[in-house]
Amino acid sequence: MRMRKKKNLSARMDACGALLVREPALEKGRWRDRKPDAARLRLELGCGKGRFTAETAAAHPEDLYVAVERVPDAMVIAMERCQALGLTNVFFIDGDAAALEQYFAPGEVDLIYINFCDPWPSVKHSRRRLTHEGFLRGYRRVLREGGQIHFKTDNRALFDWSLFQFPKAGFALSEVTRDLHAHGVQGVMTDYEEKFHTLGTPINRCVGAMGPLPDVPLLEGLVQRLPGWEVRAAGGNDVLPVLSLLQSDPAYFDLERRQPTAQSVGDDMALLPPRCVPEQKHYLALWRDGAPQAVLDLVEGYPRERTLYVGFCFLAPTLRRQGLGREIMDAVLQAAGDAGMDSARLACLVQNEAGHAFWRSLGFGDLRRGETIGEHSNPVWVMERLV
Ligand SMILES: C[S@@+](CC[C@H](N)C(=O)[O-])C[C@H]1O[C@@H](n2cnc3c(N)ncnc32)[C@H](O)[C@@H]1O
Repeated sequence: MRMRKKKNLSARMDACGALLVREPALEKGRWRDRKPDAARLRLELGCGKGRFTAETAAAHPEDLYVAVERVPDAMVIAMERCQALGLTNVFFIDGDAAALEQYFAPGEVDLIYINFCDPWPSVKHSRRRLTHEGFLRGYRRVLREGGQIHFKTDNRALFDWSLFQFPKAGFALSEVTRDLHAHGVQGVMTDYEEKFHTLGTPINRCVGAMGPLPDVPLLEGLVQRLPGWEVRAAGGNDVLPVLSLLQSDPAYFDLERRQPTAQSVGDDMALLPPRCVPEQKHYLALWRDGAPQAVLDLVEGYPRERTLYVGFCFLAPTLRRQGLGREIMDAVLQAAGDAGMDSARLACLVQNEAGHAFWRSLGFGDLRRGETIGEHSNPVWVMERLV
């Protein structure tokens, strides 16, 4: 929302000081102290000028209401509205919906409202949409089991896209409508909603209830998350095409002190860590333009039950420095989460400084130094991150 800078903003904020929570992190896990008899804690993300905030909080004096808004010039109007109504059950955070974990403890929130969030129409900005799977998974960390998200928007494309995001993040959909007010106004309207409704734009609404995260098999999840690639388990027929891919980067294998051969590729396809069974192993080739361009060796449940071990990750040298390695690994980590893993581990050769920097940039941290097993043992960084 672009707004002209309001005059006297800080004086106006101060005048509503009782409603503004200046240090929300200090309230984490203690919001109900502000209203010990509260039946529920309702949280609104991006309240804007707060028509919905004020009317909903007024209609539910039995509940505690917290509104988050990152544009203070809009939020001050919402605060003034609530103050004018004499509401004592509503509080405001001048903050970001991406930081909810800093403000709320797990399970502290009963209901989240997302009303007319910015649609970010470009695909490359889709992660910024407040209904992106990544955000929805973040809300899981503060919502109680069975807690709900109530989502409204005028934007049909955003709505249809969001309907696919909710289930991926473990939210069961209900009350899905693409014309909420078809038979007369339903519920409390927001400022934006009133504007669009007056223009005749249908309003879309749905409710998502938090259930368990879906367990999607790892390979299936990867196929879904890498639509630009043909992701396949590599078998005997793939040995030579994979070998020719690996031979495109002899410098990498110099670090390992062994160059790949047909024999070593075939062996690696079947190689299992100790105590693992073949079902845990995925030696995958990612194909494009008729040739494998990337290889992944993944082991589910190693070395711990819910850890994904990334044994090998290789991208054709001609495709590097274009963000593709990151795209592939983001997909691997997300698919690992969907498959029920909670962490990912790998070993990176100590001499492979570029590789080490890459893994660190993906959020992996060094657990310890170790050694590879096999004919030539090499020093490695054992690295891990949560997924
Ligand atoms: C299109 S306006 C809708 C305002 C209000 N919900 C309504 O329906 O009238 C979107 C609002 O969300 C706020 N917003 C967008 N992203 C946000 C974020 N990550 N955290 C907090 N507020 C956000 C914007 O500043 C803006 O005020």
